[in-house]
Amino acid sequence: MTTPARLLPLFTRSHEGGRSSMTCQYRCGNACDQDVPNTSDNAYFGDLVAEGVSRRLALRAGGAGAALVGLTAWGMPSVAAAPSAASAAPGDGAKGRGRDHGLGFTGIAPTPATVDAVKVPEGFAWAPIISWGDPLFKDTPAFDFDNQTAAAQRAQAGYNCDYTQFMHGGPGNKGAHKGLLAFNNEYTNDELMFRGVTSSADLTGDQLEVVLAAHGITITEVERRNAGSPWRWVQGGKRNRRIHTDTPFAVDGPAAGSVHLRTSQDPTGERVLGTLNNCAGGETPWGTYLSGEENVNQYFNATGAPDPQGRLRRYGITSGGRGWERVRDRFSVVTEPNEVNRFGWIVEVDPQDPTSTPVKHTAMGRFKHEGATVTLTADGRVAAYMGDDERFDYIYKFLSKGTYKEGDKKRNMRLLSEGDLYVAKLSGDGAADGEYDGTGQWLPLVVGGVSKVPGFTVEEVLIWTRLAADKVGPTKMDRPEDVQPNPVNGRIYAAMTNNTSRTPAQIDEANPRATNKHGHVTEFTEAGGDHGALTFTWKIVLVAGDPSDPQTYFNGYDKSEVSPISCPDNVAFDATGNLWISTDGMPGTLNHCDGLYVMPLEGRDKGRLQQFLSVPVGAETCGPTILGPDSVIVAVQHPGEVTGASPDNVVSQFPYRGDGQPRPSVIHAYRRHGR
Ligand code: FEO
Ligand code: CA
Ligand code: CA
Ligand code: CA
Repeated sequence: MTTPARLLPLFTRSHEGGRSSMTCQYRCGNACDQDVPNTSDNAYFGDLVAEGVSRRLALRAGGAGAALVGLTAWGMPSVAAAPSAASAAPGDGAKGRGRDHGLGFTGIAPTPATVDAVKVPEGFAWAPIISWGDPLFKDTPAFDFDNQTAAAQRAQAGYNCDYTQFMHGGPGNKGAHKGLLAFNNEYTNDELMFRGVTSSADLTGDQLEVVLAAHGITITEVERRNAGSPWRWVQGGKRNRRIHTDTPFAVDGPAAGSVHLRTSQDPTGERVLGTLNNCAGGETPWGTYLSGEENVNQYFNATGAPDPQGRLRRYGITSGGRGWERVRDRFSVVTEPNEVNRFGWIVEVDPQDPTSTPVKHTAMGRFKHEGATVTLTADGRVAAYMGDDERFDYIYKFLSKGTYKEGDKKRNMRLLSEGDLYVAKLSGDGAADGEYDGTGQWLPLVVGGVSKVPGFTVEEVLIWTRLAADKVGPTKMDRPEDVQPNPVNGRIYAAMTNNTSRTPAQIDEANPRATNKHGHVTEFTEAGGDHGALTFTWKIVLVAGDPSDPQTYFNGYDKSEVSPISCPDNVAFDATGNLWISTDGMPGTLNHCDGLYVMPLEGRDKGRLQQFLSVPVGAETCGPTILGPDSVIVAVQHPGEVTGASPDNVVSQFPYRGDGQPRPSVIHAYRRHGR
């Protein structure tokens, strides 16, 4: 499965998020190079002061150029001696390995960042389920890298896959070896899709059309020969579908039809074409697919656009865009000032019905949505947890007005259309207990159809949610990505991927590390275990990094037996409630390929993080779906995306299907020889 590749100088510019410069450019429009959008004056350590912990302690914890002193000063418990620096070298075969401990596999060692291979544990194999360009319909042309057309791309799997959702069964839910796979196509890399393109400005009109068609969501039927063989996409499956930049969406909720959502092409403000930068997502209890529109700012050319209220700047809509206005003038903010307000939402798709119209839910607010994950409250309402993936931005919760009714899909598909929106404030309880933990509140933004934010109407709260939240004093987090309920223990796990912009003066107990390049994972426990509660407790369960780094913390486990990890992004759970974490940025922070990890949350192995899989050079591990102990799906996003790579100078040929080019793919890792 390994193909020799001509390696290029890696990471010629050290990007703070741990990605290659090329990834930063195409993935999020170099968000880390821009000014922090959140300039609100919410206090960073006010919670500590309020709890009677002195500012001096907070500063001591992160100051003097040694943020790790923070953890030492806070006296983290149960941390055994870390391995020496010598034994912690990247690629050390002993490190990260461990005995089975009931997980069903022996953890793999970290993979050096230049390796072009997928690595899985001993006894496992992997196979691509579907790759960029695979034809979805019977009459769709086969992938042809050098002759790609927009018409073909609109009927083929989209580019850079992210969140995955797997649903067992064929039409009518029959067939153990049939299923349905839906996945996001977050963004494109224009330099790797076309020969001779060195920036988006080089794209021809036809190439831009391909790019627009490669964004969105792909839905495909899948099948396997037997229980021990890998899943593979079905060309011509009845439920196959591509959603792309020209696909009509309905807008619902309180801001539907708002004057701020009306455009010359849509005077109703209720019908939007396309979904963009779809990152993570969540499966609803009624079987639909939620997807978060994340770094949508980068598609809009805002040059010369007035911004008297700072609404564009707060959303990072400040750039010259990707040139999309050359083929769709709605991507010029000057020409069509409201079009940008029609992106940045949670969208809901019924993957079982390829003729259904997907919906943008304005009740869930507009920001850089990583995703949304849904569970039920004690009284049967829906709670959706959401992260706003930006340095110093917030974590949100939506509570539906209506209640879930088993089997009534039509009714349930209206649950995300009306409800209350909250934003999280986390207060530390101080250093004495030796843990990063405390209490929190869900601060109201909209409740009962009424705005709780002075000076904002309901539709203003929902369209400019960041600006509204700034007014109520939530906690500025270190880029909150997935925020997801654990179906076994009922707690919520949130990945803060990193934030190297946080200064020692800006640390607090919930974001305790200055220059936080490795990120952390926080556990939330809602009051009474009810997702409808408005207060919670919280605790950081993973402070990521190399275990030899005294700053790191693995829920108290002996750090000589855990794997290095950095930049946690997506989280998932298996049937026993173990926490699975995929990463985005390890090549730049630990010089390892990104990977998928599992960390038990209970029992004697609590905190014993092991690595299950690593992805090839330049790639990110996304959207894990844990089908069982022997069966895991992940999206391998942006393989070979290393600064300087091009179609004539490839760094990866993943998934090694003989095309000579890297093709983002959803893959299946499975135990050999069946279950
Ligand atoms: Fe698309 Fe927040 O990562
Ligand atoms: Ca504490
Ligand atoms: Ca990420
Ligand atoms: Ca993500």
